[in-house]
Amino acid sequence: MKQDQLITLRCGPLAVAGAIVTAVAALAAASVYAATASPPHPGDPVRGKTVYQGCMGCHSLDEDDVGPHHRGVVGRTAGSVSGYAYSPALKNSHIVWDRANLDRWLTSPQGLVPGAKMFFALPNPQDRADVIAYLAEQR
Ligand code: HEC
Repeated sequence: MKQDQLITLRCGPLAVAGAIVTAVAALAAASVYAATASPPHPGDPVRGKTVYQGCMGCHSLDEDDVGPHHRGVVGRTAGSVSGYAYSPALKNSHIVWDRANLDRWLTSPQGLVPGAKMFFALPNPQDRADVIAYLAEQR
């Protein structure tokens, strides 16, 4: 099968392969795609809302908790919620939370910002893409 046919199968909304991937994911642990899932789609905000439940131990959209609130975070400068006690490392990072930086952060917070105090990561690229798509909608 040619590469472009493969991509069409995987990304087409009614694709058989996509349905299988979805079924496998549904059988896997709640918010984790099967390890064999295809490379990231642009990100599914509906699925991202489910992934976001894993963030809610420390975050909410509108209130600062263990971590800062998230509404409007896409496009926001890191460490800029006034009243939240950031680590000096994040506060002084001058990062802007575009999608690429959020992807790096969620892969490894300390990898992107050594000294940051978020101890949680999403190893699965699809989980990251989906939760970023969800956050991008929370303006
Ligand atoms: C175990 C607690 C915990 C979990 C779970 C967690 N975070 Fe965090 N998060 C933090 C803390 C603490 C900070 C502040 C980091 C600092 O100041 O260095 C933070 C900071 C952030 C920031 C930077 C915000 C800003 O205003 O600069 C983003 C973005 C973020 N988290 C996204 C997420 C997402 C998305 C998830 C879920 C996939 C998540 N976090 C899960 C604790 C957590």
